[in-house]
Amino acid sequence: MTSTPSGNPHPDSPETLAEAAVPSGREGLQLGLRAKGRAARETDTQPSGTEVPVDTGDPASVYAAVGGEETFARISAAFYRGVAEDPVLHAMYPEEDLGPAEERLKLFLIQYWGGPTTYSELRGHPRLRMRHIPYKVDADARERWLTCMRGALDEVQLPPLYDGMMWDYFERAATAMINTAG
Ligand code: HEM
Repeated sequence: MTSTPSGNPHPDSPETLAEAAVPSGREGLQLGLRAKGRAARETDTQPSGTEVPVDTGDPASVYAAVGGEETFARISAAFYRGVAEDPVLHAMYPEEDLGPAEERLKLFLIQYWGGPTTYSELRGHPRLRMRHIPYKVDADARERWLTCMRGALDEVQLPPLYDGMMWDYFERAATAMINTAG
């Protein structure tokens, strides 16, 4: 999949992906329009004639569909349990206590997948690529990060549709975060 959560196609350039990490007002609008178009096209008619929306895995609905905050809290907690056990990754984190980083990742993912925008209220625009510049993110670090995230997703056991959407995003975002050949 080569689109942002709002479904807007974008080149897979690191800057574009990092900047796409938060829905802007404009994107939000497009998202709403698109969701409307979809709802109109993709409905099912029950015998009663009542129209019910078919869950197409529209990214706008992922936050609620996967179980809201609790699910993202579980993903982030499981991810950081992995980080704590990876010597290379753990050494990169400036704070000994990984708790605050766990909270930041949770809030970011909640916002990215359509939930409350608390992350940006607290931290401002994500600018993830820029925020990772102080750290040496090479191919090895990417592999390790993704290994922790794969473990976290396996632990929470999302329906395959959502697992696939998230994994696809994480693989691309992690590539976008690479800032050194090593
Ligand atoms: C590719 C390998 C990656 C490495 C080695 C890495 C490492 C780090 C480190 C060392 C920090 C600083 C700890 C902190 O202050 O929170 C950080 C922050 C963060 N990372 Fe990553 N990261 C990677 C990929 C990603 C990806 C793919 C995402 C999102 C999909 C992500 C999301 C975040 C977020 C949200 C923060 C906190 C930003 C803030 O508000 O300060 N990281 N990362």
